[in-house]
Amino acid sequence: MLGDERVSDAYAKNAEFWITIVRDKLDPYQTLLTDPALLDFIGDCEGLSVLDAGCGEGYLTRELIRRGADHVAGVDTCREFVDAAIGHPEHQPGRASFHHADVADLPLAEDSVDLVVVNRLPNGIDQPETRFREFARVLKRSGRLILLGMHPCFYAARAERTAAGSDDFSIDDYFGVRTVEQRFNVEGKVSPAASVQQFYSLEAYIQMITSAGFVIADLREPHPTVEQRRQNPWWDQNFRRPLFLMLECIPNN
Ligand SMILES: C[S@@+](CC[C@H](N)C(=O)[O-])C[C@H]1O[C@@H](n2cnc3c(N)ncnc32)[C@H](O)[C@@H]1O
Repeated sequence: MLGDERVSDAYAKNAEFWITIVRDKLDPYQTLLTDPALLDFIGDCEGLSVLDAGCGEGYLTRELIRRGADHVAGVDTCREFVDAAIGHPEHQPGRASFHHADVADLPLAEDSVDLVVVNRLPNGIDQPETRFREFARVLKRSGRLILLGMHPCFYAARAERTAAGSDDFSIDDYFGVRTVEQRFNVEGKVSPAASVQQFYSLEAYIQMITSAGFVIADLREPHPTVEQRRQNPWWDQNFRRPLFLMLECIPNN
């Protein structure tokens, strides 16, 4: 099995669940918040060579090609996702390639991509810093690395919030390594297996990125607008802390 065993095992069991959630656009956090924020952050991708790291079933790869990217390589450790991406009716083999591989050992040449996008890839468990060194290796010196993930300072599992009645976790958990295991419930659909995510403090996370040779160029925390909150009270019930962190990193030339 490729990648962190516990992470990969959960994705294999949840593959069908996630393909349905993504293709039927069932997750409001993704469709209304993180996707628009990520695409805005990426900006113009016309003519770029892109790595979609942890591409899942490939929706972002297809979107970046629609937006004019020259070529997108999707990489994922889950065979079921890679097969689904290749089998999608909009897959364009000339402009997209999907690889069953670990982001910590990329099947791409040095200095070969203009943009690395890391969209909702869980943090690595075993030697988490390795993947940042791989991103630095494949990225051109003029390139950008864009990371979107759960916010390390505020994200607590849904189950923890319900059980404890608050979003708190201890300071020892925060500055140690925090493991969050949970089944996902999206619009009443519950994932068959509990996913495993490991969180590091913001300080440790940034350290991994900078020691791989990047500087942080920009930071965003995607959140609902006042208008979204006014139109739908769901946001105030379900978005009580910043849940997402997005970073733009550039090589420290
Ligand atoms: C939450 S899903 C996100 C998928 C896709 N980026 C999206 O936003 O729909 C995380 C993905 O990362 C993949 N993954 C986990 N660890 C990986 C690793 N070490 N290398 C490559 N892919 C990995 C999983 O198989 C899964 O497809």
